[in-house]
Amino acid sequence: MEKELDWGNLSFGYIPTDYNVRCYYRDGKWGEIEVSSSETVDLHIAATALHYGQEIFEGLKAFRGKDGKVRVFRLEENAKRIIESAKGIKMQEIPVELFTEMVKKVVKLNERFVPPYGSGASLYIRPLEIGTSAQVGVKPSKEYLFLILVTPVGPYFKEGFKPTNICIMREFDRVAPKGTGRWKVGGNYAASLEAGEKAHELGYSAVLYLDPKEKKYLDECGPANFFAIKDGKYITPASESILPSITNMSLQQLAQDLGIEVERRHIPLEELETIQEAAACGTAAVASPIAEIHDIDTGKKYIVSKDGNPGPITTALYNKLRAIQLGEEEDIHNWNTIVE
Ligand code: PLP
Ligand code: COI
Repeated sequence: MEKELDWGNLSFGYIPTDYNVRCYYRDGKWGEIEVSSSETVDLHIAATALHYGQEIFEGLKAFRGKDGKVRVFRLEENAKRIIESAKGIKMQEIPVELFTEMVKKVVKLNERFVPPYGSGASLYIRPLEIGTSAQVGVKPSKEYLFLILVTPVGPYFKEGFKPTNICIMREFDRVAPKGTGRWKVGGNYAASLEAGEKAHELGYSAVLYLDPKEKKYLDECGPANFFAIKDGKYITPASESILPSITNMSLQQLAQDLGIEVERRHIPLEELETIQEAAACGTAAVASPIAEIHDIDTGKKYIVSKDGNPGPITTALYNKLRAIQLGEEEDIHNWNTIVE
């Protein structure tokens, strides 16, 4: 039975669901998976997550398909990436099998919150690991909690699939371990809040960061990767300081399937003058088209969409990705996990 929510008008927020799943790492091993209906965690006041930000997370989605089945998109890629995040800040790695079992379980348990086919909404899945042992020295925790919550969501940018404006502000860096944004670490996102809020106050949907070292090349947006279409090619930044986006990886594959050449390389800022389409891509953002990119420091404006509509290639890629996620099109790359 589906829960009655205004599915078509959901924003990207938090709505309580029935259950979350939890697993504790203690005495050198992961325990049994626990099902909880509590929305809080009981945490030691000296937990490393609280003091030193020993916290990592992931983001993926489940969709109700045309055939009524529930599909989770590329969950094994998120399982692999959270292992890299764990290594980055010395946390206990979560075995891929445990991650997979817990994702399937939490989706099944909250099946009534998977938005109906056609609503445009999806069930966002948020795996989270925190260091829980008491520690005041700057040292890794010995104990960990891995939990997964889910919540139904609508579009990340309020414009949905309408082109939106983003901005560049050199005073802000995307700060993370080893000076990169490669891991989904909570503290990294906290460091981006000031820039994000400033951009919103100025009327922009997001910040487009430049590479932190030279501020010469495009990096990524606050919550998403960046790609552009230039002379029929899909171009996207090759950078050490961005999150390896699973959506971007998927769109690159879909572009190739459509016969579109893909270039992963450094993209100098000035090259924005020569592109025909641009979008922010990610699990939450999907492929959100960009209308204009304003360089706040220099006053320069890069107008990407002249007529206010998404470009044809961005639209084709978006439609193809959605069609696979919704089971409208054959999943030839085996990206979906059906939850039964
Ligand atoms: N870059 C950042 C900083 C993100 O937070 C996200 C979202 O998770 C992405 C890129 C997109 O990654 P993915 O497509 O794996 O969701
Ligand atoms: C995602 O796309 O899953 C993200 O994590 C982006 C943002 C909500 C942090």
